[in-house]
Amino acid sequence: MVEITETVLRDGHQSLIATRMRTRDMLPAAERLDAIGYRSLEVWGGATFDVALRYLREDPWERLRALKRAMPRTPLQMLLRGQNLVGYRHYADDLVRAFVAEAARQGIDIFRVFDALNDPRNMEVALDAVKRAGARAQGTICYTTSPVHTLASFVALGRRLAELGADELCVKDMGGFLPPSDGAALVRALVREVGLPVVVHTHSSSGMSTMTCLAVAEAGAVAVDAALSPFAGGASQPPTEALVGAMRGTPLDPKLDLAALGDLSEYFRTVLDRYRPMLNLRSLQTDPGILVHQIPGGMLSNLLSQLADQEAGARLAEVLQEVPRVRADLGYPPLVTPTSQIVGTQAVLNVLTGGRYRQITREVRDYVRGLYGTPPGAIDPDLAGRVARDGPTIAGRPADLLAPELETAVREVRALVPAADTAEALSYGIFPEVYRSYRRAVDQGLTSDVLTSAALGIVGALRAPAPAPGPAPPSASRASVGAWAHEGRVRLQSQRRWVAAAHDRTRR
Ligand code: CO
Repeated sequence: MVEITETVLRDGHQSLIATRMRTRDMLPAAERLDAIGYRSLEVWGGATFDVALRYLREDPWERLRALKRAMPRTPLQMLLRGQNLVGYRHYADDLVRAFVAEAARQGIDIFRVFDALNDPRNMEVALDAVKRAGARAQGTICYTTSPVHTLASFVALGRRLAELGADELCVKDMGGFLPPSDGAALVRALVREVGLPVVVHTHSSSGMSTMTCLAVAEAGAVAVDAALSPFAGGASQPPTEALVGAMRGTPLDPKLDLAALGDLSEYFRTVLDRYRPMLNLRSLQTDPGILVHQIPGGMLSNLLSQLADQEAGARLAEVLQEVPRVRADLGYPPLVTPTSQIVGTQAVLNVLTGGRYRQITREVRDYVRGLYGTPPGAIDPDLAGRVARDGPTIAGRPADLLAPELETAVREVRALVPAADTAEALSYGIFPEVYRSYRRAVDQGLTSDVLTSAALGIVGALRAPAPAPGPAPPSASRASVGAWAHEGRVRLQSQRRWVAAAHDRTRR
């Protein structure tokens, strides 16, 4: 039997509607989700924390508490970016330990811990904190292909994660290009050589994921990730119902009730309808191009909007060729947050500035100096030479350079909110600026519901062919929905350019 981790409340909506599902749209389904018999429900982490504070003006901790109350039976799971927690930089060990302890206390049972470089030193403190909290630690192997990524290197990482206390292993195929046969071989090798249970996380982007899930289940994976059908497919996970249906009556049968799943999907279809303005059709489509360029869907849409901002959408093809070259120069990092942004932005610069590395981003400089961890392969010597004058390359664990930061976070947040608790101090410690503006918005009564209705209206209006002139929105809400409106505009522009580029290609 293979079990299912349901991702509709995290990766499903992160992949399809930019993480915008609100807690109030989750709660009506909670009791039914809890009754299904899933292995676990992925509900937290990844981008949900940032987006809740930044755009939804929701307290992510309050969401976790509410979901835990509503779903007491099924283990709740989160995605943790190792030393980066739910943010985009390395945090000091004391913040990492406090965050994991608090998340476990408030309801997370399983922590999926990964590092974008597969550097175990960036996962060890988080894994240790998970163990101390009495929760289940899922050590993660980010799957990618390159001359330095071999079955043996993945098995060696699995062994190291086991030494660091992982209770189980996750093979994370964030880009959706793990073929069924390679997935099966990897799972078999990990089960045989490491001996821990293995779960597999895929994305449907290239169209292979349901086949891959079946193959890894046959090869001995104990669980696979899936999303209820309205939030499945394309950039998201394969559909839960399809996997359950495909394995029904076989030795792999997850034994979940298809009628009950169908009922839940009916509900989430109505949820998706409410967020339709956020849904980018491209993210729902199968993109076999991924099998060639291996660029994850989320990264592709970022590239498109960066190019759109520079009025350079037509140069996408050049950028797609430059991405693997930059990745090779950087020692073949897997492309996942934040390395996908680091590689993508530099590739755009290399194309648009008319010379490779004529401009080098701060992030690439830090990366080359080892501040993100040890790259899987060697850095291109030419690039290393250009960055050398910035300062010495560090060889140790990057977080060893960081002074403790929890106390400062507590002091600063209490200056803002005298009654702030540990959870709020952690929100502030991870995203100080975002937290400040979240506080301001909440103090002005601009809660999630007010904002979302306003923002969806604006995004909808931006997409309408001829927006009707009407009274200006009240100035307070106009200022605070800026980010939503901006995103709506960027998406609209990038889609227009994409369509124009496609037209160009067909004309030629
Ligand atoms: Co994912």
